[in-house]
Amino acid sequence: MSKQYYQALIELLDQSYAPYSGFNVASIIECENGEVFKGVNVESAAYPTTICAERNAIHNAVTHGIKKGEVQAVYILARNDKGQLIRAFPCGSCRQVIAEQSSNNATVYCYDEHGEVAEHSISELLPHAFLGDEL
Ligand code: THU
Repeated sequence: MSKQYYQALIELLDQSYAPYSGFNVASIIECENGEVFKGVNVESAAYPTTICAERNAIHNAVTHGIKKGEVQAVYILARNDKGQLIRAFPCGSCRQVIAEQSSNNATVYCYDEHGEVAEHSISELLPHAFLGDEL
């Protein structure tokens, strides 16, 4: 089941725009209603304005009507500057956005070069998340 997006992620890596780091990242997310959204990292010559694949996938979902709490699963694959597929875990900023948009319930699947997944709940990856309920 969890291996189902591996091939799609390999193809999606080619859409990544990462001329500065050479590190391509692709992400696919699944939502409660079965909808699937894609994202890649998009770098910028003004480095800090770079955006990660996971957040692009989630922002894409939100743009298409997905509501807070409806993100269920996040799949990730990366490719380094030598062209090798490699496992990447979401950065801190992406963990925040995944936690918030899944109401702390998403499962994160990080593929390695063999298509094997490391599976973690977002609450494991970001304990004591700040979900905005206090605001
Ligand atoms: N990157 C992601 O897209 N997702 C992650 O979880 C880790 C980092 C991107 C950002 C930047 O374009 C490149 O990888 C190197 O940091």
